[in-house]
Amino acid sequence: EFQPLVFSGVQPTGNLHLGNYLGAIRKFVALQENNDCMYCVVDMHALTAQLVHEDMRSQTRSITAAFLAAGIDPEKHIVFNQSTVPQHAELAWIFNCVARIGWMNRMTQFKDKAGKDREQASLGLYAYPSLMAADILLYRATHVPVGDDQKQHLELTRDIAMKFNLDFMEHIRRSGYGIDITVGDEPVHAYFPMVEPLIDGPAPRVMSLRDGTKKMSKSDASDLSRINLLDDEENISKKIRKAKTDPDGLPSEIAGLSNRPEADNLVGIYAALADKSKADVLSEFGGQQFSVFKPALVDLAVNVLSPITGEMRRLMADPGHIDAILRDGGARARARAEVTMNQVRDIVGF
Ligand code: ADP
Ligand code: NA
Repeated sequence: EFQPLVFSGVQPTGNLHLGNYLGAIRKFVALQENNDCMYCVVDMHALTAQLVHEDMRSQTRSITAAFLAAGIDPEKHIVFNQSTVPQHAELAWIFNCVARIGWMNRMTQFKDKAGKDREQASLGLYAYPSLMAADILLYRATHVPVGDDQKQHLELTRDIAMKFNLDFMEHIRRSGYGIDITVGDEPVHAYFPMVEPLIDGPAPRVMSLRDGTKKMSKSDASDLSRINLLDDEENISKKIRKAKTDPDGLPSEIAGLSNRPEADNLVGIYAALADKSKADVLSEFGGQQFSVFKPALVDLAVNVLSPITGEMRRLMADPGHIDAILRDGGARARARAEVTMNQVRDIVGF
């Protein structure tokens, strides 16, 4: 069996928001108790949508500060920056040759991000999921905590791992680097593990506060659509008070949230922040109006987020300290990456 290893990444683009926190960073913190973890600021991915950035380094520091402020321990685990480990790009090239165009054509995030004029999208945006597979498999990671929006990319990662394992089966056997695993009921001699996504929780996809059918996103033009990790109490309060709802109050049963995306989203956010199920939240607030529920949600959000915001600001005042943590993490990540790449080069025949 492969050793359990948790890997995940966040792009250094725009403000971190509540969706990033609940869908990703908070899970990173919980997983570090019982697992070896690697958390990466994926700056190479940041070139895919927009090539020229004025403040990539400060964005990278800001994501790193959020990791640390949320409680990630960079000594027990590895916190690093993707571009400082060139092996990510090397493995991604091999995966570009493993992945099929038909697989990439099914990626819904590419279709969303490329927009109408797909001919003008970058080749990098198209190949993004192949680089993401390389990020994960470079360390032969087994578990990936992400939001629901990344589910399809993780399925692609499994497809790439499986095809590599099967195409190079004889080479892997001869190399002696393979491991016997079972996939479904089939025994497979594998070099790369089948990664497990960790997506569960009451708010696997946090939606926009202005439109319950769109995900909360850094790229939404309206700042009222998201709660940023650096928002102060006044901003959080304003955004939640202005959050779109419907005329009904809170139902007492989960079924009463169906076809009410805004209500469902706010209950999911409350549940995730309080570490409860949505059913528990409804048993507390069922029958109440949003005029009662929203102030309670403001209090909860401020209680959970303000210590993180404060610590992020404190850390960001000392960029040298953050850079030192990333340098140390990068060196440790490169050492692991080079073990894998030596074996992969051997398997591929370089
Ligand atoms: P974004 O999608 O805002 O550009 P990233 O692509 O860097 O952010 O995603 C970082 C992590 O945050 C990923 O694990 C992603 O699944 C998660 N994430 C992003 N937006 C949301 C959301 N609205 N709800 C839940 N998780 C999210
Ligand atoms: Na995303």
